[in-house]
Amino acid sequence: MSNKNKNFLVHKTELNNTKLSDSEISELQNGEVLFRIDKYAMTTNNITYAVVGHKIGYWQFFPAEEPYGIVPVWGYADVVESKHDGVKVGERFYGYFPMGNFLKIEVGKCSPFGITDGSTHRAELAPIYNSYSNIKADVSYNQEMEDYAPIVRPLFTTSFLNYQFLKSEIFFDAEQIIITSASSKTSMGLAFMLKKNQEDDGKRIVGLTSPGNLEFVKNTGYYDEVIAYNDLEKDLNQKDSIVVDMAGNSKLLFRIYDFLNEKLKFSSLIGLTDWTSEKEFKTLPRSKFFFAPAFAQQLFKEWGIEKANKEIAMAGESFTRDASQWMDLVYFNDFKSLSKLYHEMLQGKVDPRKGNIVKI
Ligand SMILES: NC(=O)c1ccc[n+]([C@@H]2O[C@H](COP(=O)([O-])OP(=O)(O)OC[C@H]3O[C@@H](n4cnc5c(N)ncnc54)[C@H](OP(=O)(O)O)[C@@H]3O)[C@@H](O)[C@H]2O)c1
Repeated sequence: MSNKNKNFLVHKTELNNTKLSDSEISELQNGEVLFRIDKYAMTTNNITYAVVGHKIGYWQFFPAEEPYGIVPVWGYADVVESKHDGVKVGERFYGYFPMGNFLKIEVGKCSPFGITDGSTHRAELAPIYNSYSNIKADVSYNQEMEDYAPIVRPLFTTSFLNYQFLKSEIFFDAEQIIITSASSKTSMGLAFMLKKNQEDDGKRIVGLTSPGNLEFVKNTGYYDEVIAYNDLEKDLNQKDSIVVDMAGNSKLLFRIYDFLNEKLKFSSLIGLTDWTSEKEFKTLPRSKFFFAPAFAQQLFKEWGIEKANKEIAMAGESFTRDASQWMDLVYFNDFKSLSKLYHEMLQGKVDPRKGNIVKI
């Protein structure tokens, strides 16, 4: 069978240089499976995959013609051809896909819960990215919420894991948790977890955001207090604190540090939403990068995969239901509108109320 495949390519070092590629899909070998990608989400996290593509290896998942790469996305795909006994045509999977129409994988592990891509070029990458869950056995799958899941699920998993990390460190003895890029879904997921457990943990939840997103963030109810970046020295409480940072803006991080000084007990560096800003964190005292896939492996070992997946699924389900109250889904059905979306997001034009789904 011959299929035409289109992929959206991004120049690996000039991120605003993009193009479409057209290719034939070669015949399947024994053990391979061909997915038709049905739909996927686009959030700032995907822009970060491109920004740190070289450093963390995100360009390696779906190789393209040099010097271009393919940005990975989370979504759903259906099996349209299979040369593996354990995978049937028509089965639907959730996982990590290229911004394109098709993906061919070489099945590694196979169980009723899902399959892994055992291709050599993916072997060194975090296992969480190489697994595809069969929706029939996926505890996190809920048909009613299907279009919210690729947006919320990968981000909320990070929020959940970061919450468990902070809890395991007894919140570094802090009284309040300050979260930057407070309007981002990852930040709101963390604030949601903190709120849910506030009676037990007793931590105050503070969000820092841009002035235009202030009212929106306040209205979600996840934070005890929301402060615009410019007002932080005026409004921020000088209590023992942790910063959880999504912005990756060292000026902001040092401003908070200068203001709180010894009261800043720890900074957990998660993201780079403000990816064009200066990044000089090495001298920021008591800070550490939080790489969710690495902590996931640690937690999976401690809790066991079944318990961990169940807990993430339960908390994720309640956050997704909640998020569906404030999130408007927006659909992109051709490569031209996808390209426009990508370039807008690259310039930081992101409306946090919107959940972007690409279905081409
Ligand atoms: N380390 C990990 O393992 C891991 C895993 C998942 C996600 N993350 C990171 O978490 C962060 C949040 O991702 P998300 O997908 O949740 O974001 P999102 O929902 O798309 O967030 C949108 C918000 O991010 C801020 N923002 C976006 N572009 C910006 C820019 N160019 N300059 C400054 N601020 C910008 C704005 O927030 P404000 O107006 O509130 O500032 C905006 O409202 C990303 O950096 C992502 O890479 C890290």
